[in-house]
Amino acid sequence: MVTRKRISLLQERRIIISTARSLHAKGLVHGREGNVSLRVGNNILITPTNMNYETLEPSDIVSITSMGRTSSKHSPSSEWQLHLDIFSSRSEINAVVHTHSVSATALACQGLGIPPFHYMVALAGGTDIRCAPYATFGTKTLAQNTIVALKNRRACLLAYHGMIAIGETIDKAAELTREVEYLAELYWRVRLLGKPKLLSSVEMKKTLRRFTTRKRQSMTKGKGKRGCSS
Ligand code: 13P
Repeated sequence: MVTRKRISLLQERRIIISTARSLHAKGLVHGREGNVSLRVGNNILITPTNMNYETLEPSDIVSITSMGRTSSKHSPSSEWQLHLDIFSSRSEINAVVHTHSVSATALACQGLGIPPFHYMVALAGGTDIRCAPYATFGTKTLAQNTIVALKNRRACLLAYHGMIAIGETIDKAAELTREVEYLAELYWRVRLLGKPKLLSSVEMKKTLRRFTTRKRQSMTKGKGKRGCSS
C-alpha cells in the first residue's frame, strides 16, 4: 500500500530535482557542482554526489538521519555535513542551496563578502553578506565556518569556493541564491567604477525594518485573501 507519507516523500524528492535543474538552467550551477537539501522531519533529503542533474530520478535523492547515517543507494553530496549542521543549528530553516555561481564565487575567491553597497543586500537578513573563511570542501571545519558566517543571515559566501543560501522553504532558498548572485555581479561592477560608497548602518537598519514590515503586511494580506475565498 502506498501511504500518504511515501507520496509526500516522493513529491519532496521531485521538488529537490526541479530546484536543482532550475538552478542549472539559470546558469547558477555549472556542471555537477552545487547541491540542494530539504529538511523532512528528523531527516534531510539531499542531492547525491557528483551526478548530472538532468538524469536524476526521485530514487537518486539521498536520505540522511540527524546522526549523518544513510541507507540510500547513492552517496550523499560531499557537503552533507555542512547541510546537516545548518539544519541542526537553525530550527527555522528547512532548505539549503549551495552553488558555485560565477560572480559570488569570483568575490569569494578574493575573500570578499558583499558590503552594504545597495539596500537589497538586506534581503539576506543583515547589513552585509559575509564571506566564511576557507576550509577544504566537505569538512566539518567548512561547516563550522559557514554557520558563523550565517549568524543572523540567510546567505553567505565561502572563500575560494562559492555561496550558500538558506530558507524556510526551498523556493525561498533558491530565490535568494539568484538574488545573491545578482548582488555579487552588481558589486563587482560597482568596484570597477571606483571605491564603493557604502550605505550607513543606520540606513541599512531602516531597510531591514521596512523588509520586516513588508513581510508582515504581505502575510496579513495573504490571510485576508484565504478568508474571502473560503
Ligand atoms: P557534490 O557533487 O558532492 O555535491 O559536490 C559539489 C560541490 O559543489 C562541492 O562543494
